[in-house]
Amino acid sequence: MENSYVLYHDQIIKSGTIPVDPEDRGYLFGDGIYEVVFVYDRKPFAINEHFERFLQSANKLELAMPYDVSTFKQLTEELITKNNIVNGMVYVQMTRGVAPRNHLYERNMQSVVTGFAKSVSLDSIEKSQSQGIQTYLTEDIRWLRCDIKSLNLLGNVMVKRRAADFDCQEAIQHRDGTVTEGSSSNVFIVKDGKLKTHPATNLILNGITRQVVLKLAEKIQVPVTEEAFSAEELLEADEVFITSTTMEVTPVVKLKGDQEQTYKIGPVTKELQKQFKHQIQLNSSAMKS
Ligand SMILES: Cc1ncc(COP(=O)(O)O)c(C=O)c1O
Repeated sequence: MENSYVLYHDQIIKSGTIPVDPEDRGYLFGDGIYEVVFVYDRKPFAINEHFERFLQSANKLELAMPYDVSTFKQLTEELITKNNIVNGMVYVQMTRGVAPRNHLYERNMQSVVTGFAKSVSLDSIEKSQSQGIQTYLTEDIRWLRCDIKSLNLLGNVMVKRRAADFDCQEAIQHRDGTVTEGSSSNVFIVKDGKLKTHPATNLILNGITRQVVLKLAEKIQVPVTEEAFSAEELLEADEVFITSTTMEVTPVVKLKGDQEQTYKIGPVTKELQKQFKHQIQLNSSAMKS
């Protein structure tokens, strides 16, 4: 991150100058939250939704928000400008703060906010979207509050590593045969023209891309049910795709791991990809005006 600018509390400063305290609860317990916002054509996408979810995660963990949501949004925009990001991402993190190590937390500690921005080439995203990706089906070993976008991601990173070891770009997780979500994405299936995805319960993160895609499906009149589905349904699906901030709508062409299957990239996935791109354009023009 040479020559870049990072966020520290409410300041944008040169990278390499942030003090790191070993007693920050983010390091000790993963006691914190984060958001990743994508930037297209210098504009953050769905920034309101991201920081609304950030606030919800903070509330669920009793983390004190040091500034209001509008300040977080403004700092995100400053990070984009200072780092001259055309296409890329912004990462914002907030830990509970620094205190002598003790499982018991005090409420209303001084949170520690950090963040950075990075350019991303859209080519690799485009490639995954046109060719599809391989996924690895495996047991969901995470805790029961996956609705919180917390820094505790060990279950997610373990399955991602395993997926990569089998030449897969993403893991699809299941709890006792019920598909939940990817390691860093939500999972959708299409069967007989109908779309299905796990409901936004404590077992998944309610992805911002997921929410956008649900609205787009409604707009193009594809019937949707937010209902848990089994690994068998996943196997028998006509189309499978994943959604996330960094992957948009990415088709799954192969399933490995606990079950094996191949899929074609179907018409519903393609139409939702097209609609999502259109949404990105609308976002850019709305923010310009
Ligand atoms: C576990 C998990 N589920 C779903 C998602 C997708 O969420 P979003 O669309 O907000 O990026 C993510 C994103 O990082 C994730 O980590």
